[in-house]
Amino acid sequence: MAELESKAFNVVADSRPKHTYRGVVVGCGRMGSTIDDEHIGMPHYPWPWAHAPAMIEARGIDLVAAADSDPSKLDDFKQRWGIEALYIDYRQMIEKEKPDVVAVTTRPEPRAEVVVELAEMGVKAIFATKPMCRTLAEADDMIQACQQNNVILSMACHLNWYNWYTNARKVITDGVIGDLRSMICHSPASLSNLQSHTFALFRLFAGAPAKWVFGVLDNDQHAEGHGDIPGSGYIVYENGIRAVMNSHAERTGLSWTIEFVGEKGRIISRNAHAQFELRTTHPETNTPIQNQFPNPWYPRSSMVDAIEGVCLSIEKGVEEICPGEFGRETLEIAIAIRESHKQGNIKLDLPLVDRSLRMG
Ligand SMILES: NC(=O)c1ccc[n+]([C@@H]2O[C@H](COP(=O)([O-])OP(=O)(O)OC[C@H]3O[C@@H](n4cnc5c(N)ncnc54)[C@H](O)[C@@H]3O)[C@@H](O)[C@H]2O)c1
Repeated sequence: MAELESKAFNVVADSRPKHTYRGVVVGCGRMGSTIDDEHIGMPHYPWPWAHAPAMIEARGIDLVAAADSDPSKLDDFKQRWGIEALYIDYRQMIEKEKPDVVAVTTRPEPRAEVVVELAEMGVKAIFATKPMCRTLAEADDMIQACQQNNVILSMACHLNWYNWYTNARKVITDGVIGDLRSMICHSPASLSNLQSHTFALFRLFAGAPAKWVFGVLDNDQHAEGHGDIPGSGYIVYENGIRAVMNSHAERTGLSWTIEFVGEKGRIISRNAHAQFELRTTHPETNTPIQNQFPNPWYPRSSMVDAIEGVCLSIEKGVEEICPGEFGRETLEIAIAIRESHKQGNIKLDLPLVDRSLRMG
């Protein structure tokens, strides 16, 4: 028992960032500050989900300031989180507060400009919510600016840190379901906004960049313009792993389900990540059997884990769980599904040549 306790203690201690960083938020709206007000009756999403309270709860970081171009948002932020250092102009905040980690929770329109500017101002890490931005060229600029200035760029597709998915990845690396072959998602949601979470998970689990895509939309009107649309698609990764996205406009009765299929078993995440199921093959009878999924011993907020993860990435010098390249790939797959439909459902190689393409 004593040995077990000391092991549990080590897990907690080892996962803590070594230093304490100064954190700030740019954009004090729903995702930056208030979204937990909306999450009533969803016990499988442990609070906090908004970036400000997650930063307060996370180890290794102190929330020291925030910026929003709308003063009423700053008043509300002060009431909620007791932060006094509040700015209309985020550049002034960076100059004065000298933060290490900046959470960018504006809507997508200003995101590229804000991220490029923050990178050039010399912060250590940027934790930007999804969708990454609107065009592929903007995503390229964000990644380049962070690389040139030695800044960690981490996308807040926080399911990549959700400890149920972390355990699912461990099940796979331990060989329990054999080599991962394919991934399947059913979810009625738009491709760039909500499905960026799914495509980021696909990329993390695949462990390789997406190589080509084809897509089918519900109708031809969806393919016109730049709207964020639902759609179905087939994605093949460089290592041969395949993924299917099945997303229709109609609520088909399917809640968000993701299945990871290996050569001798599968993991299924049901009901928007509420339940995880593990199925393997009986070693003697060779028939499919159900097993106990290794549930997390302490199901925590994925946003808290993500923010601690960003601090750990600063210490490691690299972001591996959801870097900017994953954010760009999620946008690129969403756009490629639409472009494939437009061109007669053809196979499109990634990266797409036309970097002016946009969605949302
Ligand atoms: N990860 C998730 O699960 C999740 C959930 C909800 C929303 N989001 C994402 O969060 C983003 C924001 O959505 P929201 O619903 O919170 O929007 P929101 O409008 O409530 O908040 C955005 C805030 O940014 C501020 N802002 C805009 N430009 C600014 C600038 N240049 N400097 C400082 N502040 C600026 C606005 O005044 C506003 O208060 C979207 O991209 C959305 O997709 C993510």
